Amino acid sequence: MISPLVALCLVGGILLEAHLSSGARRAAQYTLCTFDSISYDKCLAVVKAAREANRTSPLHCVSRENRTECLETVKDEDNHYVVLDQHDYMAAREAGLRPIIFARVERKNFIIAVAPRNISLIEYNEASLNVDTDDERAFHSALAFNALRGRNVCPDTPSISQRRSIRILNSDQYKPFADSEDILLCPFATYAETNSFAFCNYDAGLQNAVFVYKQRGFPRRKVRELRRSLLDLLNNFNGKRFFNFFDTFKGVNDVIFKNNTIGFDVKPSYVNGIDENIFGELHCNQADHKDNPGQLGDDLETNN
Ligand SMILES: *[C@@H]1O[C@H](CO)[C@@H](O)[C@H](O)[C@H]1NC(C)=O
Ligand SMILES: *[C@@H]1O[C@H](CO)[C@@H](O)[C@H](O)[C@H]1NC(C)=O
Ligand SMILES: *[C@@H]1O[C@H](CO)[C@@H](O)[C@H](O)[C@H]1NC(C)=O
Ligand SMILES: *[C@@H]1O[C@H](CO)[C@@H](O)[C@H](O)[C@H]1NC(C)=O
Repeated sequence: MISPLVALCLVGGILLEAHLSSGARRAAQYTLCTFDSISYDKCLAVVKAAREANRTSPLHCVSRENRTECLETVKDEDNHYVVLDQHDYMAAREAGLRPIIFARVERKNFIIAVAPRNISLIEYNEASLNVDTDDERAFHSALAFNALRGRNVCPDTPSISQRRSIRILNSDQYKPFADSEDILLCPFATYAETNSFAFCNYDAGLQNAVFVYKQRGFPRRKVRELRRSLLDLLNNFNGKRFFNFFDTFKGVNDVIFKNNTIGFDVKPSYVNGIDENIFGELHCNQADHKDNPGQLGDDLETNN
């Protein structure tokens, strides 16, 4: 899971930290603000596991009633941070917070757009979409797909009539229909064979990220320190030795960070060029916009 390079950085980080703490400046203590009980419990579980192992905990935890309260806490208190997912970015930005560290995940499956091999360009432009709108990831991809086809994904009224069908689904669930050969449609008007999903997909999400209040002073040194403690979390609390922070917790996946997190970067990595602005457009530039099947207009196939 952990590359030698990451391991090396971590060892370097620990040595540096030891050096700093023996010298003038001690590494500050950073506190994670959680706003649901499962996240708080998971955070406390790391603290407990660290104590039992006689280690310094990479996490310190504080719990608040709801997200708004956490955003305020991060603004008001030094060295506090909050981990947010894609749907929280806009509210956090509006509160003046900034993302500084981005959780990198290992992608094992992809959302793909499958079309009959002999689909024409005109048919592509007019095709309806077969997508499970309850699958949030697939739905985001369908929005991205339609946005790239030039559709208004925040329409007042739907339009357009019936035509060929494009399936938007998880590559793990893809099975070819018996009667037609398929291809994958890629963003930016290319196509690929159906086994090329790692290179030709419509994934359209943002990373979980650490948000802080920069106006209060969050210089690069602090970002490095905080990142080091998160790498400590990733290296030591991933199931190999102590409590597994990157696993389902009380039956819930992806609490705080995604299960399949493999790194922490100081630069975001956008999939398919979907950055915060485009993601915002796909969500009608509203914080906490609720995904709505109506956004696909009558491009959306109804399964009955
Ligand atoms: C932690 O320290 C205590 C006493 O200081 C010791 O009894 C215990 O075995 C240590 N635990 C581990 C996992 O090293
Ligand atoms: C968040 O919690 C506070 C304190 O309990 C409450 O006053 C506020 O209305 C809540 N905000 C939201 C958006 O639920
Ligand atoms: C596309 O191919 C299928 C068979 O795979 C055929 O039934 C259909 O008529 C073809 N459509 C066009 C527009 O060529
Ligand atoms: C993480 O969640 C996935 C489902 O999303 C699950 O299959 C897996 O076992 C969980 N744990 C780890 C360590 O990946």
